[in-house]
Amino acid sequence: MKTPKCLQPLVEDGLVDEVISQLMSGKEATVYMVQSGDNIRCAKVYKEALQRSFKKAAQYQEGRKSKNSRRGRAMEKGSKYGREQQEKAWQSAEVDALYKCAAAGVRVPIPYGCFDGVLLMELITDSNGDVAPRLNDVSFTAQEAIRDHAKMMVYITRMLCAGIVHGDLSEFNVLVDSDGPVIIDLPQAVDASANNNAKAMLARDVDNITHYYGQFAPPLLQTKYAQEIWALYEAGELTPDTPLTGQFVEDTRLADVNTVLDEIKAAYEEEQERLERISDAEQ
Ligand SMILES: Nc1ncnc2c1ncn2[C@@H]1O[C@H](COP(=O)(O)OP(=O)(O)O)[C@@H](O)[C@H]1O
Ligand SMILES: [Mg+2]
Repeated sequence: MKTPKCLQPLVEDGLVDEVISQLMSGKEATVYMVQSGDNIRCAKVYKEALQRSFKKAAQYQEGRKSKNSRRGRAMEKGSKYGREQQEKAWQSAEVDALYKCAAAGVRVPIPYGCFDGVLLMELITDSNGDVAPRLNDVSFTAQEAIRDHAKMMVYITRMLCAGIVHGDLSEFNVLVDSDGPVIIDLPQAVDASANNNAKAMLARDVDNITHYYGQFAPPLLQTKYAQEIWALYEAGELTPDTPLTGQFVEDTRLADVNTVLDEIKAAYEEEQERLERISDAEQ
């Protein structure tokens, strides 16, 4: 096809030889199939920040620090330069998250870099070599659903161990290749330790995935992976290979408020005595 304007710089730089076809034009990006040397790859072109329909951008950006302070200040001001910097930060967030996930043993498209607002990555294909379907277009036997759900729980665990929560994980952001699920679409990935919404986002990601596979294997709907994974993470006990059970017993013991109050009172009285001793000594 004729090279779209947004991909022209990559053709000029020799990163892309030819644009084969447009795969998708979604809410956030337009995705193309491209020829790069001997390989067919995928090019994701981000829509301008202003066109983007991501409503809760602030929720995702919390805790995301800019490495460059000039960029950080400009982003806060919201000037044209600031908006451009914000757009760059958003684009690099996805390629950074893909590199981290791949290194952590999570099946994602292999990234080849982000150039002029275009993410170049592996094209995920099915066993016939066609573009892989999205999870929401695939049905499973109960056994297959349980197997792939377990893989997804391992991937979510490994991402969390690498400090990442996807934040928009669902059957629409998972492709299925001959080896199983492949996670895509990570520009909004959040930093698990710095973002106060990380726990809720992890729970939503796990629940979306569990609901989808649960249609084919209803016992999955009774599992409590999100609570189990988060509790292990908070206790510092989560490792990339921690065996998961899907079981979780909530701690229903109420905090003993009276004991805590007595301790606060005792500490306060001790401090008052100390202050009195100091003022007596000074007189
Ligand atoms: N690496 C890839 N290989 C094959 N298809 C892809 C790849 N990345 C994206 N796609 C296709 O493009 C669609 C949109 O990509 P996605 O990253 O989810 O962006 P959006 O933000 O628009 O949802 C996906 O649903 C999928 O069908
Ligand atoms: Mg998507």
